[in-house]
Amino acid sequence: MENNLKFYLDKALKEHFALGAFNFFNMESLQAIIDASLKTNSPAIMQVSESALRYMGEDFVTSLAKTAKKFNPALFLHLDHGKSFEICKKAVDLGFDSVMIDGSDLSFSQNESLTKKVALYAHSKGVLVEGELGQIKGVEDDVDVAVNSFTSPEKALEFVKKTNVDMLAVAIGTSHGINKFSRPPCLRVDLLQQIEKLLPCTPLVLHGASTIDKEIVKTFNDFGGKLEKANGLSQELLKKIVKEHNIAKVNTDSDLRLSFTSQLRKELSENRSEFNPRSYLDKAREKTAQILVYKMENVFYSAKKKQL
Ligand code: G3H
Ligand code: 13P
Ligand code: ZN
Repeated sequence: MENNLKFYLDKALKEHFALGAFNFFNMESLQAIIDASLKTNSPAIMQVSESALRYMGEDFVTSLAKTAKKFNPALFLHLDHGKSFEICKKAVDLGFDSVMIDGSDLSFSQNESLTKKVALYAHSKGVLVEGELGQIKGVEDDVDVAVNSFTSPEKALEFVKKTNVDMLAVAIGTSHGINKFSRPPCLRVDLLQQIEKLLPCTPLVLHGASTIDKEIVKTFNDFGGKLEKANGLSQELLKKIVKEHNIAKVNTDSDLRLSFTSQLRKELSENRSEFNPRSYLDKAREKTAQILVYKMENVFYSAKKKQL
């Protein structure tokens, strides 16, 4: 079975752009992704974590994604951080375009056998698989101290050969969430270079790529919020990584959550008698789409890359 996502990942590798992989959590956040992808003529990935899938329910997720594809066929549905064979199988059976099996907290051989099992099943149904090697830290973990959690280039080569994954998430020092770095981050671009030398045809995935715009954090705090330590990946560094390396998929969740919620705070506090959800949700959707347009055009360089 043909998988159009594969076409775009290969194109991204060749032309040095990346597909934004955006986590959505409701209809409005997905509409922001659709809108931005249409405005910029971009391919993009709409992804859900296991908990987002539970939150919206599988019927809503699949029918929302089906609708999104009617607007832009270059939008692909992906399972983010699937932790078991069962959840990946469920996503494959539901018609997702790709799944991530995240066995990164297992031993190499356990990760390898779980990932291989998922890849065998997914590939038999024409679905792509993302694996992860090395650990991408979570909210407020300090990435600098855990040297041994970075992806080893030699192990990455062995892992991709043995598992047959279509994309590999690499741990080079980024972390998930909104409080990323307690001191200036040291991103291991040297490791990325070694990985892509050994695996020149494998699309690599960067997780934890939210940039946490200071202006948006200010809006959040100006309208009653309390985010004291929020900080993200440097936008300049992210641009350089996308332009110069084999990162073909850039995972972004926190930036959508933050733009949506800070705009909601602003709208609710500036229009205190407003009680029609359509009014303030519309503004949150608009703000989020605006942020995504900027990323697609100026950070991921996916604008005008839509072809199918
Ligand atoms: O990478 C993790 C994502 O940000 C998903 O987080 O499980 O709260 O949806 P979540
Ligand atoms: P952020 O928390 O930086 O948005 O990362 C999201 C992510 O990697 C989802 O898999
Ligand atoms: Zn992630």
